[in-house]
Amino acid sequence: MKIETVGVVGCGLMGSGIAEVVSKAEFSIVVCEMSEDLVEAGRQRIDKSLSRAVERGKLERTDRNVVLDRLSFSTDLAALTDCDLVIEAIVEDIKAKNELFSTLDGLCGPEAIFASNTSSLTITDMAAATNRPGRVVGLHFFNPVPVMKLVEVIRTIATRDDVFDAVFSFTKDLGKQPISAKDNSGFVVNLLLVPYMLDAIRHLERGVASVEDIDRAMTLGLGHPMGPFTLCDFVGIDTLCRISEIMFNEYREERYAPPPLLKRIVSMGRYGRKSGQGFYDWSEDPPEPLAL
Ligand code: CAA
Ligand code: NAD
Repeated sequence: MKIETVGVVGCGLMGSGIAEVVSKAEFSIVVCEMSEDLVEAGRQRIDKSLSRAVERGKLERTDRNVVLDRLSFSTDLAALTDCDLVIEAIVEDIKAKNELFSTLDGLCGPEAIFASNTSSLTITDMAAATNRPGRVVGLHFFNPVPVMKLVEVIRTIATRDDVFDAVFSFTKDLGKQPISAKDNSGFVVNLLLVPYMLDAIRHLERGVASVEDIDRAMTLGLGHPMGPFTLCDFVGIDTLCRISEIMFNEYREERYAPPPLLKRIVSMGRYGRKSGQGFYDWSEDPPEPLAL
């Protein structure tokens, strides 16, 4: 089973990172977004990440140009017709993802493999929206994709062995280290990480300590690269809230329930680093904790 041409749908935080690593690994790649403005924003995100690698001496300037030139962008899903593998990284919403896969099912060849980068939805629900459930898998990358080595590779009870083996090997071609995980909401990492992030918010609500001090405690006390509130801003407050709602709906366990403060921050449109404000104001250097 050959994977030569790869499609990525959604070029936000995750899709842009996935597109970058796929292009760096010399696969032919097509990226789809919803509008020309979003295509441009995605392209700029990739350009910025590659330029940072050049500045740090990790990538030659000529290689940066080759990686950028290999990427083709479109606002039309029909551009993905010839892909061997399509990875979706759109909004964390089952209706949107099912609609997308159902459309792709009619556009792509019968051999094409569909993968979701979902954080908390189950792959089985998406596979059931297609006529090719044996060819649907989870490929869960981590943020920032160019840096984080892990990919969780998920098979459902319907996933064919040869399909699973092909995508597992594909992640190694990207320079990643895959693990295999069952198709339960949150797979491995988010099962443990999401309650931790939500607990930090609950403790903040109870007045245990400030945003800055809780972050400082977890970085200096445990050697974490960033504290839980910086991580919330990094993941995206809107995305975290959706993940929390989906996991709570699935498990009905309090530890997955979105804390009221999280919902209020989303209502204010503070989506974290990507929108400029979340728990911190990212226009400041270093970022300033906001009054909550
Ligand atoms: N894009 C591309 N590269 C980036 C980057 C970005 N957004 N941010 C940092 N980097 C690169 C830098 O270029 C640098 O590369 P080199 O070592 O090759 O020079 C390297 O990462 C380290 O960067 P910095 O020195 O600037 O910063 P740092 O040491 O503070 O590291 C970090 C930054 C890698 C993001 C680190 O803080 C970290 O690991 N944070 C935790 C990230 C994490 O937990 N991610 C998982 C989120 S949960 C998830 O993804 C799952 C989900 O479903 C929600
Ligand atoms: P994001 O909001 O940064 O990007 C989503 C992008 O998808 C947007 O640019 C949007 O315009 C685009 N989009 C939405 N619907 C589309 C459609 N029908 N066709 C084409 N493009 C469409 O979100 P993100 O953080 O990149 O998350 C994307 C997915 O990755 C979600 O499922 C999320 O749970 C998952 N994920 C996120 C993280 C994280 O840390 N943020 C980590 C791992 C997985």
